[in-house]
Parts: sequence; C-alpha cells; structure tokens
Amino acid sequence: MHLKTFLAALLLVAVAITNLYAQARTAVPTSQRVDAATTRKVNTLLAKMTLEEKIGQLVLYTSDYDVTGPVVRAGYLKDIRAGNCGAVFNALTANFTRQLQKIAVEETRLKIPLIFGYDVIHGYKTTFPIPLAEAASFDTVAIELAARVAAREASAAGLHWTFAPMVDIARDPRWGRIAEGSGEDVFLGSTLARVRTRGFQGMEGWDLLATDSTVVACAKHYAAYGAAEAGRDYNTTDMSEQRLRDVYLPPFQAAVNAGAGTFMTAFNSVNGVPATGNRFLVTDVLRDEWGFGGFVVTDYTSINEMMKHGVAADSAGVGALAINAGVDMDMQGGIFQGSLASLVRRGVVKEKTITEAARRVLTMKYKLGLFDNPYGRNDSLREKARTLTPENLAAALDMARKSIVLLKNDRDVLPLSKSLGTVALIGPLADNQRELLGPWSGAGDAKEVVTVRAGLTRKLPSTKLLYAKGCEIDTKDSSGFAEAVRTARQADAVIAIVGEEQGMSGEAASRSQITLPGVQTELLMELAKTGKPIVVVLMNGRPLDLSAVLPAATAIVEGWFLGNRTGDALADVLFGDFNPSGKLPVSFPRNVGQVPIYLSALNTGRPVNVNEKFTSKYLDVENTPLYAFGYGLSYTTFAYSNLRLEQNVLGQRDMLRASITLTNTGKREGTEVVQLYTRDEVGSMSRPLQELKGFKRMTLAAGASVQVSFEVPVQSLGFHNAQMKYVVEPGTFLVMVGGSSDKVQTLPFTVR
Ligand code: GLC
Repeated sequence: MHLKTFLAALLLVAVAITNLYAQARTAVPTSQRVDAATTRKVNTLLAKMTLEEKIGQLVLYTSDYDVTGPVVRAGYLKDIRAGNCGAVFNALTANFTRQLQKIAVEETRLKIPLIFGYDVIHGYKTTFPIPLAEAASFDTVAIELAARVAAREASAAGLHWTFAPMVDIARDPRWGRIAEGSGEDVFLGSTLARVRTRGFQGMEGWDLLATDSTVVACAKHYAAYGAAEAGRDYNTTDMSEQRLRDVYLPPFQAAVNAGAGTFMTAFNSVNGVPATGNRFLVTDVLRDEWGFGGFVVTDYTSINEMMKHGVAADSAGVGALAINAGVDMDMQGGIFQGSLASLVRRGVVKEKTITEAARRVLTMKYKLGLFDNPYGRNDSLREKARTLTPENLAAALDMARKSIVLLKNDRDVLPLSKSLGTVALIGPLADNQRELLGPWSGAGDAKEVVTVRAGLTRKLPSTKLLYAKGCEIDTKDSSGFAEAVRTARQADAVIAIVGEEQGMSGEAASRSQITLPGVQTELLMELAKTGKPIVVVLMNGRPLDLSAVLPAATAIVEGWFLGNRTGDALADVLFGDFNPSGKLPVSFPRNVGQVPIYLSALNTGRPVNVNEKFTSKYLDVENTPLYAFGYGLSYTTFAYSNLRLEQNVLGQRDMLRASITLTNTGKREGTEVVQLYTRDEVGSMSRPLQELKGFKRMTLAAGASVQVSFEVPVQSLGFHNAQMKYVVEPGTFLVMVGGSSDKVQTLPFTVR
C-alpha cells in the first residue's frame, strides 16, 4: 500500500474514533432528542429573524399579576409588542394569558408566541404538601401524581412551563429553601428529580409537551444552591469538585435523563464563579457531558447580580459572562435586551451564540405546540373544570397523609380514640388557613384550606372539641397561656398545633435558630404541667430543634405544611383512620450547633466515642441527630430478619441482589419504607458511612411477613476519585437494610 494511501486511511480511522468519542461524551439522552421536522421549522424561522428579534426570544419578564422577586419592570407589554420579550412569568389564568398572547401572535412582525412560566412548586390551585413533606412519603407514585395534577391545573390556566422541580440537595436546616426540595440524600433527591420531571412533562421526552395537560419542567437551582455557607440564603458555596459531582449534581443529571426541558441557574457563586456565569457548569457539564438539549434560564435578575458578586463592572460585562457561559434566557434582568446587540456589534459575543440560544428557546416553543395552537391553553371553561376538582383534592389528601411522620408516641397515646369525651385543640396553627399552604404556594387559595380545627370537627361529631389559641406563632406574648391551660384541664387529651409561619421557610427565609418561634415551647411546657397527654403536631418547613419540646410531648407528629387537605389528613392520622408511614428525608439535629449533621458523612480518623476524650464530638450534646434520616414510627411494629445476598462477590457490571424478610409484628395493618444503604469500606478516598441506594414502601397486614428484594447496580456504588474519574473501586462493601438509617441489618460483600 502506498504510504500516502496508508496515511489517508490512518487519518480516516483517527477521525472516526474522535467522532465516536465526541458522540460518547455528548450522548444525548433520548429524552433530550429533537426531531428533524422541528429542526427544519426552527431553521426556517431563524433565517428570517433580525439580531434584535433573536435577542427578544432570550428575554423573560414578570407580569404584574403576581410577583416573586424585587421590582417589577413596567414596560413589559411594550417589550412584547416590539418583539423584545418572548417569555412571561407570573401571568395567570386562561383569560389573562390569552390577552398577552394576542399581542405577541397578532401585533409582532414574526408572530412568535410567548411561553408562560410560573412557580408551580407543590400544586397550582390544589396545594399539595411542600416538596420536603412529599419526600417524607418515599412514595414515588403519589409524588409523580402530585406533579401530574399540578401540571393539569397549571396548563389549563394558560401556563406552559413551571419553575420546578427544585432539586437542590440541602443539609442545613437554617436554609429556608430546604422546604422546597427532597432533603439531604443524593439517591432520594435524584429519584424525585426524575419522578417530578416526568410528572410535569409526561413520560420520557418532549413530544408530550404539546398536550394540554403537561408543562415543561425546569430543574433548579443549578447548582449547589443548597450548600450556602451558614445556611444563609444566596450565600457562597464552595466545595471540592468531587463533592459537587457526587452530591449536588446527580439530581440535576437525573432531571436531564428524565427529559427536563429547561434548567435555571442559581444565585450563588460556586467555587468563586457565580452559577449564572459559570461555563463549566452550564456548558462543559450540562451540555457537553450530559447532553442537555433544552434551554437555560437565569434566576430572577441573577445576571445583574453578578456585578454585586464582583465578576464584572457593568451590564455589558455581566451580559457577556452569562451568554458566553451558555445561559439562554435572562429572567427579569433586562441585561440581554439592553446589552447583547451592542456586544455582538463589538465582537465580544458571536451572533452564532445568540442564534443557538434562540434556537433552543424556539425549539421548546415548537415542542410545546405554541405555533400550531397559540391559544391552546386559554380556555377559561376548561380551567374552571380542571381546578380544585374532587380527584385533585383526593390526590392532595392521599399525599398529605403519606407525608406525615410520627416521631414520638409514648404509651401508644396515638391513635386517639374517637370516643374521647373532650379534646382540647390548642396552638397558633390549630385554626389557621393562611400558613398551611406553606412557602411557594403560588396560586393556592388559603380560603380553600381545611384547617386542623375543621378536620377534627368533621372527624369527631360527638366529641366536645375545645379550642384556645394559646399564643401567636412568633411573639413574646404569653397572656393566652392561662386560657389554654384552663381549656386543657377540661379535656381528656390535648392536641397542640405549633410551628412556623409559611414565610419562615422558602426563599430569603433563613433562621439562625431552629427552635419553635416565639413562646410556643413555653406554651407546651405549661400544657404538660396539667398532666394530660399532650400530642404535639408540628407545621414547619425545615427540621426543627425539638430538644425542649421532647419532654413536654407525649407524642410528636411532623406535619410539615400539608396544603389544602391539612385538617383531614391530620385528623385521619391522629384518630387512626390512617396509619402514619412517613420517614424523615433529612436529619433532625439536637441543636443548631450540630449543623451540618447528615447521614452520608465520613468516618473521620477519630470517630465519635463518648468514652474517649480525643474523638470527634461535642462536649455539650449527644453526637447523633435527635431523629435520623429515614426514621419514622407507625401504629404497628415491624421486624426485619434474614438479610441475604444472592452473591457476595460481584463484578463491575453485576447487580447487588439483596433480600430481607419484613414482618408486621403489631396489631394493625401498616406501611413500612424499607431502606437499603451501602458503604464502601476502603477507597482511594474516604467514603461515607452510609449512602441510600434503594427504598421500597411495603404495606402489610398484622402478622403478615413478606420478602423484600432489592437490585442495586454495582456501577451505582462509585464516586469521583482524585483524578475526577467516576470509579467503583474493588474492595469490601457493606449493605445495610432496615426501617431507619440508624436501625439496620448488615452484611458484607466484595466488588472485584
Ligand atoms: C425566585 C426563585 C426561583 C423562582 C424565580 C421566579 O427568586 O429563586 O426559585 O423560580 O425567582 O419566581
């Protein structure tokens, strides 16, 4: 063979290998694929567009119908009419969004429809439990249905796009936004990121988005927003790339693989670079590594805020940072509208970058069917018919019941008997509607909420239900205590409903103390002095420091914020019509000084040992959480036996197959969330003591037994090593199975 021919052949082979590698690197998940027909339509439209019109598609403004951040820009209608705004958020109802759509579709040169977005975080009109509460159910079917119901109501109200699921891992209860996510665990967080994305968008892929009952999801806040130092919202996050990739990024990748059509960048800086201008995150990882094909929107004026971060001196500087990092749409900042055209003319930004961003936005608009049917979601009759229906409210009740976690139940005081003569209902959240919707309740309507008082009244027609508020949620005023104590003395049992205001969690709601606000703990102590059984029900958006509540409470029920059906769900649990099955998706510390305290921690070289001085511990508190991740009681009891592995030596491509016998050893049917954890005992880097790798909800009749089996891919047991490579290193592992992370059966196994 001639040398020239040989070299040419060599070159061809080299090109082929490079392409294969490139393909492998950006293997686009099927759920992110765009069909050729859509691509053709987008190309045709792009070819007609001026630079300004392309930039217009990258601009998102809030309407004045509802506001979720700082100042509202007045001229958004003028911007729409001029083709300078292609997306609107916080505009609600089929009619109002129709009015705005008409401007875009009938008055602009190219008649490109608007996309309408909104924070549908835990329900649109029918309000479900806050996401952290839903996570406590560990019920992926119920959680997907909750997102599906939210999408059906939101799409009937003219919306195409929800700014959810929030998938930020959070391990600091001072951070108010812990309420909006799935808690501290990577596996649970990744599972629910997938489940909620599908709930909003329908199953895999974008082809379902054009139906009139789905909305495109938005995985947020990319990335590591939940790692804000000191739990102070918007604060710095700084960590190793290993921790970023092993803990904070996996739920986002799960959302990509589930087909999430959009992402939202976070306010915070990540290792010194604001997320909204972070090319490593937005292009290298999200697009090049994960194959994300949708569009990326910023958080509310987070481009502008990069000037405050100090990474650029002016609007043009931050605008260039964002667009060149791979961000596609500017939420509310006005920076893209004001700066991009001149940045292109000055050569700081390539027009191609703008064109590609507009392509991604227009592709989503085509996938949503906006061009074929711009008014497809503007039917106010259908909106009314779809909203707050009995089915939706039934789904909210089911989700609420399953989200409740029983933390303490001394003397089996719960469930209370329905034949109790007199029950005293005490506390600032006992007869309160407004707070029960919880943070980010969007279009939820407090008037529709079933209060605890209403729920108990319905449940106990023949019981004398006394009521006293006792105190406000967050004041120093204890003048209501006397009446509360008098009321308690007259009752056979006391139910105290205490907790936080809805505004004490969610955005811009960090707390430096995490005890019950105001004088609520003191109220509980006064009630306990009556000697009556005190059932404490918590309504809160974060783990609380319950150390002082514990001695005053005979029983403690974690009720979170449960939405529309709060009163019915709690009445069902308190009086035994529903056996609580929730488990904690986040550790509850004994006090805020322990924070961060979470399950998947490293062992350290001097693991805590109270009998040894020189070990990693506090002198003034027990060194375990008050309640561990995965903990939750039931009205029945469960026993675990006979943990077995199909094989205990496994290859890299094998499945770890474990099974255990679960027995209901109590007197009534119950549901148990069986949890599977693993530990990599020896690695090239120190590995966590326990990591959740599986869970199953099992409902069992009294006395029944069942074998519960798990299949865990060995490939899921890895981590990013010092060379930043994802590896599953050979060696000894442990598998642990039980009904709480601190009560497990353990077996060893080996990976070859
Ligand atoms: C807010 C929140 C974000 C929300 C957005 C639009 O500031 O950070 O979660 O989706 O603005 O309301």
